Amino acid sequence: MATTSADNGTPQGAAGGTAAVGRDAGGGEWNWFTPPAEERAAPPSGPAPSPPAARPAPEPFVANPDYGRFDPESDALLIRRTLEEIEPISQAVTSYFYALLFVRHPRLRELFPASMDAQRDRLFKALLTSAKLIDDTRVLTQYLSHLGRGHRKYGTRPEHYPAVGECLIAALTRYATRTWSEEAEAAWVRAYTAISQIMIDAAAEDERRAPAWWQAEVVSHEMRTSDIAVITVRPDRPYPFLAGQYASVETPWWPRVWRNYSLACAPRTDGLLVFHVKAVPAGWVSGALVHRARPGDVLRLGAPAGTMTVDHSRDNGLLCLGGSTGIAPIKALVEDVARHGRARRMEVFYGARSAHDLYDLDTMRELERRHTWLSVRPVVSEGPSDGLVGQLPDAVRRYGPWHAYDGYLSGPPGMIRSGVDALVGSGIPSHRIRHDSLDGLAAVGG
Ligand SMILES: Cc1cc2nc3c(=O)[nH]c(=O)nc-3n(C[C@H](O)[C@H](O)[C@H](O)COP(=O)(O)OP(=O)(O)OC[C@H]3O[C@@H](n4cnc5c(N)ncnc54)[C@H](O)[C@@H]3O)c2cc1C
Ligand code: HEM
Repeated sequence: MATTSADNGTPQGAAGGTAAVGRDAGGGEWNWFTPPAEERAAPPSGPAPSPPAARPAPEPFVANPDYGRFDPESDALLIRRTLEEIEPISQAVTSYFYALLFVRHPRLRELFPASMDAQRDRLFKALLTSAKLIDDTRVLTQYLSHLGRGHRKYGTRPEHYPAVGECLIAALTRYATRTWSEEAEAAWVRAYTAISQIMIDAAAEDERRAPAWWQAEVVSHEMRTSDIAVITVRPDRPYPFLAGQYASVETPWWPRVWRNYSLACAPRTDGLLVFHVKAVPAGWVSGALVHRARPGDVLRLGAPAGTMTVDHSRDNGLLCLGGSTGIAPIKALVEDVARHGRARRMEVFYGARSAHDLYDLDTMRELERRHTWLSVRPVVSEGPSDGLVGQLPDAVRRYGPWHAYDGYLSGPPGMIRSGVDALVGSGIPSHRIRHDSLDGLAAVGG
């Protein structure tokens, strides 16, 4: 993981002495309750959702110099009380928060996708997750630094944070009626200021060494089944990733809609990147990539992320479970191990519904022929098959114990969850198991 100033500091330190004031990326100061003048004056652009009318929206806050310094222990208690109160009504709080954000700061609407139904709660959930973690500095800092770097591709600027903070506090004031108090508000202000500063610092640090996004031209598009495509792209400048990581991808057909796809190769000398994409029913981005993208189309890529990488200083074998297109990063790991020239045992279990869905089995078999340290076992849940029939985790259990191996899993979330259980049950401690992100927190360290 890249080192940022925030990675090494505590949220208190990052927030500076006065909680209601932060630094912008250029070192200037901002007061997070006062949006930039340009934004306050901006006329609404296009239809913006109205906040619920039941109660008048609270007035924007004015910074209170008494908010003081963030104190993880006592502030965390107040914050958790508020969270417990609003958790059951989080959807209403989220809707209100966004409605307020877009009515008060219409220019910010342009940063978000046209339709936000599927995942509009993610920003708000992350704020809540951060608030929950507020007294675990190390995990919180890793998580927020990752988020802050990832926000560069959305066009988020330091001066946008006060607007989000103001609407967060307004939404909490309205809905957390039982637990809200002057002390609770002060704790939230301090926490949000600290959270924002970590994200802003991480983004500023990242800006010095990497672009906010890469453009990547599709150079080949190969259909492997009726709904899986292998897509090769050429980035406009070197894309610095490690085998096992993933990239967020935006297509020209769904602007500002980003989805993650694993890189299906280790870094190559020609700089090309490969993705395996399965079109899910009614899937926006996967459908466009599989059925619409053609050579010459240009995608946007966010920075690489993910911790499913190989530690080459270790001698343990690698036990890898790849479900469906989850075989993509596993293939990258095989290439990576081959390149490092140390013959570590590598056992790959490649699962899919039917033999027909094992779209990359020939490639995996070819790698197996080339490398004596590699063994590949196909597993299908519906026969007939030349390999194993059943669920991937059950097949892995049958071949254990796996004490001398590190675990790697990639595939649908359900498979990862049951796979982790199987690996732990077969003798691999959980700290030696790596997998794709199940939610934002799992992406820590990317
Ligand atoms: C770390 C990570 C790595 C990933 N790597 C890959 C990869 O290498 N290849 C790949 O194809 N995908 C991969 N994914 C999944 C990918 O990010 C998208 O979630 C997926 O392509 C669906 O996006 P969409 O925009 O097409 O569908 P959306 O528009 O988000 O969803 C449309 C509908 O489909 C449902 N849906 C979403 N995903 C699935 C699914 N898997 N099966 C059935 N229904 C679904 C949704 O609930 C929704 O109802 C990865 C995800 C993560 C978190
Ligand atoms: C403490 C502050 C913030 C937190 C914790 C936060 C968190 C998140 C999270 C978790 C996501 C989901 C996707 C991802 O992981 O990248 C997200 C998406 C996004 N955030 Fe933030 N965010 C914050 C501040 C901001 C600000 C100030 C802006 C600018 C207005 C912003 C704009 C966006 C946009 C445009 C998206 C994409 C939305 C989408 O894909 O639907 N965020 N944010």
